Amino acid sequence: MPKSLDAAIGRIEAAEALDRPAYVLGKAISRTGQLAGRPGKSVANTLHGRPYGHPVHPLIVAIPIGTWTLAFGLDLLAATGLVRQRSTIRAADVALAAGSIGAVAAITTGLADWLSLNGRDKRVGLVHGTVNIATLALNLWSGRLRRQERRAAGVAVSAVAYATMTVGGYLGGHLVYRRRAAVDHADRSPAPREFTAVATFVDLPENKPHRVAVWDEVARAEIGIALVRQGGEVHAMGARCAHAGGPLDEGWVLNGTLVCPWHGSAFDLRTGQPATGPATCPQPRYEVRLRDGIVELRREQEPGDHVVTSASLAAEPDAVRVSRPDTFPGQDAEAPPPRTATEVLYEHHELMRRMFERMLASSGADAQRHELMRALAAELDIHEVVEDAIFYPAVRRVSEDTEVAYAEHGVLADLLAQTVKFPLDSPEFGAHLTALQAAFLHHAGSEEKSMFKEAGRLSERRLLELGADLERLLEREHTSRARQAFRALKISLLEHV
Ligand code: FES
Repeated sequence: MPKSLDAAIGRIEAAEALDRPAYVLGKAISRTGQLAGRPGKSVANTLHGRPYGHPVHPLIVAIPIGTWTLAFGLDLLAATGLVRQRSTIRAADVALAAGSIGAVAAITTGLADWLSLNGRDKRVGLVHGTVNIATLALNLWSGRLRRQERRAAGVAVSAVAYATMTVGGYLGGHLVYRRRAAVDHADRSPAPREFTAVATFVDLPENKPHRVAVWDEVARAEIGIALVRQGGEVHAMGARCAHAGGPLDEGWVLNGTLVCPWHGSAFDLRTGQPATGPATCPQPRYEVRLRDGIVELRREQEPGDHVVTSASLAAEPDAVRVSRPDTFPGQDAEAPPPRTATEVLYEHHELMRRMFERMLASSGADAQRHELMRALAAELDIHEVVEDAIFYPAVRRVSEDTEVAYAEHGVLADLLAQTVKFPLDSPEFGAHLTALQAAFLHHAGSEEKSMFKEAGRLSERRLLELGADLERLLEREHTSRARQAFRALKISLLEHV
């Protein structure tokens, strides 16, 4: 964000003068909802998006933004003389009117969400809403001018409205992407993957939340869990509220739900689903079992999670069941003994570590150093190809590290593309080469520390097959003239474009 915009939004965030109007408006809306009773609550839940499991405001704002953009574009075409048909000009007016209807819905849903913002976010939200209401008013005025056949004035007013809409959108984006308003705040760690003892049953109070914590080694963070004992049963859900991170373990139990003390979202104890908003998505849930008076729990994984558990490993056909075979299919008696995939990749890591050292130990911009850099670039590219094509797809079922590893390949490729553009004797080249080495050492080191160990969950036969596949592909990438030419062209383009 440019500094001037940052400063402008900072001034809004610090504007205490906005607190009084925000307080009065907030109270007026809340009181109306309270007087409306149960129907008022249902309307509020719908405006938040609870029935859809997703905030509804971001979906609805697409209507005015889209239709007003269409109207602006058609007006522009008409004003520049590119379009002269009456029907096209009328279409701009219809789009403008449709956007105004959508804006009423967007402002209503936005107001519902704004009520549960606090402090600086409430101030920015107030300005965001005011700017959007001003935009709607301008567009309504523009529509009126157009109906009175004062088209030029109408188009000018809606052009101003388009500018204010952009300001309103920017502030809305700041609230969501910078300040994390209306995003999921629950801890969705997959830990614990297996049943883990967390409490003694008799120590749990009846019908009151009790906090326990487990450690997530991957995120290196403590994950809070709220336990609620009811009779002989124990319910468990994430202690950090999905709405804005409130402490559910400090809430209370009411009508089979656990209520958040911050904004009153109520989560069903059995399903974790929000019975009442402003939260729209369910809390993380945990399976609970009692063993000898000890409460054990494990995370109920969610659709789309990529988590390796003992159950998923048991269902894995390539998991450890077969030891190293005496003979390997296709093994030549004279050939060196077959190597596992991790042995092959470890050797490739070592090769590149040495290449980086040689490159960093040299200096200047002579042809030999240029060749060495090109060889290093080619080897990095080959490394990405072989891991992406063979190793990661094979170990994905036994290791959760592959997603980050794919992303790290992207970082290495980006850094390489930046590095080779600089002259070899420039300080920029040296700085980027050092950064590229650090990125590679991190990538290779974390693979060796974690993913290669987890790959040992595959049978040794499978690791040997993968090793053979990797060696074949490495051989092809190093010797195929077509592959070499393609790679040389790619590096050349990176250097000069
Ligand atoms: S933090 Fe808002 S309802 Fe929990």
